[in-house]
Amino acid sequence: MNTMKAVVIHSYGGREVLVSEDVPVPGIAGDEVLIKVHAAGVNPVDWKVRAGYLKEMLPYQFPLILGWDVSGTVERTGSSVTRLNVGDEVYALADISRNGTYSGFVAVKGDSVALKPHSLDHVHAASVPLAALTAWQSIFGAAELSEGQKILIHAAAGGVGSFAVQLAKWKGAYVIGTASARNREFLLELGADEVIDYTKTPFEDVAKDVDVVLDAMAGEIQKRSWKTLKSGGILVSILGPPDENKAAEFGVRGEGVFVKPDANQLAVIAQLIDSGYVKPVVTEILPLADVAKAHEMSETEHVRGKIVLEVA
Ligand SMILES: NC(=O)c1ccc[n+]([C@@H]2O[C@H](COP(=O)([O-])OP(=O)(O)OC[C@H]3O[C@@H](n4cnc5c(N)ncnc54)[C@H](OP(=O)(O)O)[C@@H]3O)[C@@H](O)[C@H]2O)c1
Repeated sequence: MNTMKAVVIHSYGGREVLVSEDVPVPGIAGDEVLIKVHAAGVNPVDWKVRAGYLKEMLPYQFPLILGWDVSGTVERTGSSVTRLNVGDEVYALADISRNGTYSGFVAVKGDSVALKPHSLDHVHAASVPLAALTAWQSIFGAAELSEGQKILIHAAAGGVGSFAVQLAKWKGAYVIGTASARNREFLLELGADEVIDYTKTPFEDVAKDVDVVLDAMAGEIQKRSWKTLKSGGILVSILGPPDENKAAEFGVRGEGVFVKPDANQLAVIAQLIDSGYVKPVVTEILPLADVAKAHEMSETEHVRGKIVLEVA
């Protein structure tokens, strides 16, 4: 087992730079595990990296394997990893600064890896880590959302939003989500208390006195979001640090979140999934060979829930 199939890029560019190749199976350091990839979740960051949009922030070397969500089986453990065993069925957010999961195997730090939810197959488990951790770290980490608070979640029907709605509901918050009309029923079923069709209604006319805004849109939508917050509230942006001057002007706080791998948070999320509080929404399952199609779909920015690539 020296080589594996992987989708790599040799330069930044359009979907045509995605190529399937035989590459060496990665070695592992003492604190890492080698995971046999069964499924790889697709996230917008995959095509943003491919296109070179993040090259200032993450200086990659080529060839680069994209994709950082994984569900699979532990194939080998490093000498200092005691918590995981060969054969464990696990899921993880791999280190986004290194080679990713559109591949037969991936090396991941042991403290990023958790046992996958028992109730999910690998395809559904692979849809969870990056999006659910982003939602968790934004609403419970940065915003410290508590029971009875009101949260406005933008892009509520997307990967991050669909987890954020369910996690906020589990916490006992009042949840307002923005989406187009076709996602209204879907979001009510996920637990949203109100859904604002952003194509017809300016959300700021409806959402008032909110404690937390989860901003997955930035730009104009962020500018219009400040006025929805009550004094002392917080806007958490997952697209870079929000405008501090605006936050001060409205007497609120703004914070940026960039998701980090975290096995402990993934273990709690697995429990919430297994006890039925949270369910991942996978709307498209494709073979790894159809990775360009998966990117094309994600680039529309109108996918409901998640896209997953089946690898093994
Ligand atoms: N900082 C971080 O660590 C981090 C982590 C994850 C993601 N992100 C970023 O956060 C963004 C969201 O990620 P994601 O994975 O949730 O993306 P996604 O799954 O591609 O989001 C798609 C969703 O966005 C909705 N949408 C599009 N335009 C909208 C609008 N104007 N108002 C409200 N909803 C709208 C769509 O709903 P309709 O079809 O109903 O319009 C669709 O369901 C991406 O830009 C991603 O790169 C950052």
